[in-house]
Amino acid sequence: MSAAPQPPALRHAFVTGAAGFIGSTLVDRLLADGVRVTGWDNLSTGQRRFLEGATRHPGFRLLEGDNLDLPALRAAMAGSDFVFHLAANADIKDGWSHPEKDLHQNTIATFNVLEAMRANGVRRIAFSSTGSVYGEALVTPDRPTPEDDAFPVQTSLYGASKAAGEGLIAAYAEGGQLDEAYLFRFVSILGERYTHGHVFDFYRQLLDHPDHLRVLGDGSQRKSYLYVQDCIAAILHVARLGTARGARHRTQVYNLGTPEFVQVKDSIRFICGALGLNPRLDFTGGDRGWIGDNPFIFLDTRRIQATGWKPRLTIEQGVVQTLRWLEANRWVYESRR
Ligand SMILES: NC(=O)c1ccc[n+]([C@@H]2O[C@H](COP(=O)([O-])OP(=O)(O)OC[C@H]3O[C@@H](n4cnc5c(N)ncnc54)[C@H](O)[C@@H]3O)[C@@H](O)[C@H]2O)c1
Repeated sequence: MSAAPQPPALRHAFVTGAAGFIGSTLVDRLLADGVRVTGWDNLSTGQRRFLEGATRHPGFRLLEGDNLDLPALRAAMAGSDFVFHLAANADIKDGWSHPEKDLHQNTIATFNVLEAMRANGVRRIAFSSTGSVYGEALVTPDRPTPEDDAFPVQTSLYGASKAAGEGLIAAYAEGGQLDEAYLFRFVSILGERYTHGHVFDFYRQLLDHPDHLRVLGDGSQRKSYLYVQDCIAAILHVARLGTARGARHRTQVYNLGTPEFVQVKDSIRFICGALGLNPRLDFTGGDRGWIGDNPFIFLDTRRIQATGWKPRLTIEQGVVQTLRWLEANRWVYESRR
């Protein structure tokens, strides 16, 4: 059997969404690994403070700009050899308040990233997609959802816009415009620099009124979570292995998550236990928290585990670590009001 061709070295990464929760964590890891990084961000939800360490590093530069500005994006990307495309509207809940936002920020923006890559001859991309692209899994409603689940019915604008972004990336790759395209479908991510999600919302409420907590849905929703450092480790592990090289398809899809799930009620127990609180729980009712909320998110992660990666933190450890970070960094609440 002939060995898969060696992937080219990763020397100069272009990270969209570099000032975000996950993007800034990726930037720090790349710099620590000796990779030059150009960070690209419009600072709509990103935080300059997350890049304080990176900006002191000689291998880093932050370019402030918007993915919807294709000429500026094209110019910024010059000289890069790998694109990590993380910039997005990452908020799934409020899709119907601004239906055009997901289309622009997640689909058209991804098209612009691909066009900028094509213009610059950058032929490798990793994309932060989401388990939400499965909508409510059709074939495996009570089992972990595999990457090759039946073609899903979309249940959120966010999921639909990410699925469209995935489709564009695959079309560019299979159409010969890219050599390697990695589509990572994440469960919800937890950890340091977390600025949105249920731990953020619950802790904010408990700061305001420690005696009661309003919970969307009936608390029985079952969800999986992954610690941010484990997420970054998986992305870089696959990028370095170059699993698309020599494969039948240049597009490779990986679910990223832990091999466990918890109920929202469990997560509340972890949070309240860590805070020493016993609030009254006011459930809004129903088996889902918002339109498009999937009451069971649990991804089959055997494909990524077969590459040799595995998560280090359990969901409970990830929830508590997130909470500890929020306790020490309450300033994020002011910046996200
Ligand atoms: N956090 C999660 O649980 C989770 C789960 C699944 C997928 N994802 C995906 O991971 C990625 C990162 O998410 P995150 O949680 O770090 O979110 P985030 O909001 O912290 O980061 C997104 C970053 O992109 C920037 N940005 C947004 N629109 C931009 C634009 N038009 N041009 C340039 N920059 C822009 C923002 O300023 C921000 O810094 C997103 O693509 C998101 O959809 C996140």
